[in-house]
Amino acid sequence: MKPTVVVYNRLYEEALEYIRASCEVVYFTNYKENMPEFEKALKEADGLIGTRLKVDEALLDQAPHLKVIANKSVGYDNLDIPLIKKRGILAANTPGVLDDTVADTIVALMLAAARRVPELDQFVKTGGWTEKGFKDHQFGLDVHHKTLGIIGMGGIGSTLAKRARFGFDMNILYHNRSRNKQAENTYDAVYCQMDELLERSDFVCVMTPLTPETKGLIGKKEFSQMKETAVFINASRGAVVDETALIEALQSNRIWAAGLDVFEQEPVERDNPLLSMPNVVTLPHIGSATEETRKKMAMLAAENVVAGVTGRELKTPIF
Ligand code: DGY
Repeated sequence: MKPTVVVYNRLYEEALEYIRASCEVVYFTNYKENMPEFEKALKEADGLIGTRLKVDEALLDQAPHLKVIANKSVGYDNLDIPLIKKRGILAANTPGVLDDTVADTIVALMLAAARRVPELDQFVKTGGWTEKGFKDHQFGLDVHHKTLGIIGMGGIGSTLAKRARFGFDMNILYHNRSRNKQAENTYDAVYCQMDELLERSDFVCVMTPLTPETKGLIGKKEFSQMKETAVFINASRGAVVDETALIEALQSNRIWAAGLDVFEQEPVERDNPLLSMPNVVTLPHIGSATEETRKKMAMLAAENVVAGVTGRELKTPIF
């Protein structure tokens, strides 16, 4: 009998076909729209594949045959890893294949926030650009030759460092759980403690995964240590930052601007004060969202789920 794989949100056809070649597939383009059927499918599931399903005790209790969970994302804060391990279930994510695309998104946020691209785009489109010209107070900040502080120097962090060092002649500071010698040797990245990074950086980019240790990592104290001209970038997870402290830091001009791909609550609430600040550039959590990269992530996740249900080694296991 073929193993059963439950696909719980939309997946590219190539990835679906790959799974179907060796498994029975139960496919939900959005599991939330059909909870009774999804819960029924869980009872037979050997493998689960998709993005952002909260996998906790209640869910695992409904899936007694589960062997593997393949996240179609590099982040895995949706998974209760200690519990999954305890139950002898395997788990995988999709590192590496999205590094370039996410690093590109971060560069876009840095440039857009520093050079005020969305604000000036609106200025032009709403007829603000007249013969009277353009005022000094609308000028932006340079990106080139500035100091970029990267908190979390993994695959995405070092891909960003490469762009910043070689594309923009930036100086790179970083803070990480462990030293990244490759980034130090290749991009002249300098390891430093958080305090020093926050005080010296013109751009502060947080790239850590969300874990119990990194929840609220950047808060009131950290914003108070940044330069008044600092541009803060978050493309990891919203909850790594204390959003109330970020709002206060921007409202009080404690920092200069922010570029955000992620929020504490997603989709972001319409009345979130961040949405009405001209010095905040926002994106809808689309760091890795190009067709090419999302297809690679889907294939990697598909390979992981098939490997897990057929007793082979996962390509990119989480543990
Ligand atoms: C990731 O891969 O973790 C992206 O943030 C999409 O969730």
